[in-house]
Amino acid sequence: MSGVSTAMLVAAATVQHGYGRVELAQQAQLARACLERCGAGGRGLLRLVDHVLGRAGLSVLEALALPGLRGHYAWRKRRIAHWADRACANGAAQAVLIGTGYDGLGWSLAQRHPALRVFELDRADTVAIKREALRQLRADTSRLRLLEADLERDDALSALVADPGFDSGLPTVCVAEGVLMYLPSARAQQLLRAMAQCLTHPTLIATAMDLWHGRPRFRRERPWVRGWLQRRGEPFRWGCEREAIGAWLAVCGWSLRALAEPGDPDDPDPSPGEWLFLAECAAASPPR
Ligand SMILES: C[S@@+](CC[C@H](N)C(=O)[O-])C[C@H]1O[C@@H](n2cnc3c(N)ncnc32)[C@H](O)[C@@H]1O
Repeated sequence: MSGVSTAMLVAAATVQHGYGRVELAQQAQLARACLERCGAGGRGLLRLVDHVLGRAGLSVLEALALPGLRGHYAWRKRRIAHWADRACANGAAQAVLIGTGYDGLGWSLAQRHPALRVFELDRADTVAIKREALRQLRADTSRLRLLEADLERDDALSALVADPGFDSGLPTVCVAEGVLMYLPSARAQQLLRAMAQCLTHPTLIATAMDLWHGRPRFRRERPWVRGWLQRRGEPFRWGCEREAIGAWLAVCGWSLRALAEPGDPDDPDPSPGEWLFLAECAAASPPR
């Protein structure tokens, strides 16, 4: 597990979840092409996912680490795709996806919305792998820009604004899936504040960890997982109770509009502990 990052785990889950599902085939292809470029850890994950015994082993590992995690990823991705499509149908002409890892949302949004410009931001090594994977798949990337930025150290908004294809005057949907928890809370707020100030009629779709017994974590997370995340250099840095999400967002200029209900009777979150929400720029929102 030492050569395995959380982005690789999500990608492996995407490959597995995509088996036999035509609508997810492209996402799975991209995740696979990325994992093939992620060294021994990525290739090892693919060997497990591709073999019946390997998949059984992964299920055991998941039960020992965080039961329901792969189902949780699928749950949040379904909702994010739905909200992002709706934002595009409502006029968003740009999508800014931060910490996208090996996820195919940006690529598929660009295909589903023929005028949409998509910008993804992640660390340089992750971006390099994804660029290569997209090239191998002969993906049309004419409206998909992959930008390198360390969200903790760099001025990510400057990198975005400097891109010749970016237009801060266009209505924009921003997605921060599974990433804000890895930044210090104040840094995440600084980033979201900059987005609220720089973008026109922005919509935000994002996730944040819940607090459970005072710690940012999934409810069913086993104790050893925290140490593994620390050693990986990907500890959850902060969390937020449900009642506090609105106030946390308000500090950086966003208004909470919707929260995905983990206990949805028709489609519950298989592993609760990460909030998924939709927000609008407070300045652009009608008075409550
Ligand atoms: C758990 S993965 C989630 C990937 C993707 N959003 C998804 O849900 O499928 C976390 C992602 O955040 C990115 N990330 C974490 N900290 C970052 C930082 N300081 N700067 C840029 N990207 C970062 C990682 O590189 C990784 O791609």
